[in-house]
Amino acid sequence: MQNQAFIIAIDGPAASGKGTLARNLARHYGFNHLDTGLTYRAVAKALIDKGLPLDDEAIAAGIAQELDLKGLDRTLLSAHNIGEAASKVAVMPQVRHALVEAQRKFAQNLPGTVLDGRDIGTVVCPDAPVKLYITASAEVRAERRFNEMRANNVNADYNAVLDDLRRRDERDMKRSASPLKPAHDAHLIDTSKMDIEAAFLEAKKLIDAALRN
Ligand code: DC
Repeated sequence: MQNQAFIIAIDGPAASGKGTLARNLARHYGFNHLDTGLTYRAVAKALIDKGLPLDDEAIAAGIAQELDLKGLDRTLLSAHNIGEAASKVAVMPQVRHALVEAQRKFAQNLPGTVLDGRDIGTVVCPDAPVKLYITASAEVRAERRFNEMRANNVNADYNAVLDDLRRRDERDMKRSASPLKPAHDAHLIDTSKMDIEAAFLEAKKLIDAALRN
């Protein structure tokens, strides 16, 4: 259908490779891309910058309602402490409600969209024709994150990075509001032993099949 956006929903834990995959797919298909993690990070950063508490749901939800998706800056939002704070505001139902509404609106951009996050296939776009759940072992994800930090001259300790990822997984998977889990009809792609190109080709195969239907 020409008048309806084709939505690719991508979920998975931190450092699974879903962000890179989402960007590559969006470029390949000429679709719009939204990293929904940035929306939670932006709310957290605004609270920190304004000296506001991270545990007041009404204040955080007010900021989420005002968020402009066009102003999201990956470089500014990538700091470690912002990721930590984001996973705290992400447990708040009112914050999620406001951000999910904005994400759903974005998903309707023609000709299609790629959204990546934790609850895209389960909550944000449950009718998406393609749902991918990207995963990898905690050890492999920690190694990727560790190498990335070293490449950026950031001091890092592998065991601390691994502990941190496990804590983040626990918080994302065990929260009661929209926990991280694969949608029942998601295709699982384990990238533990795959490089970026192999993951892309696997995803492309699934998407091309859905586009033909
Ligand atoms: O993917 P990320 O590290 O940028 O995400 C930051 C936090 O936001 C993460 O701890 C989980 C949360 N998040 C979420 O709850 N739902 C999403 N759709 C995306 C991110």
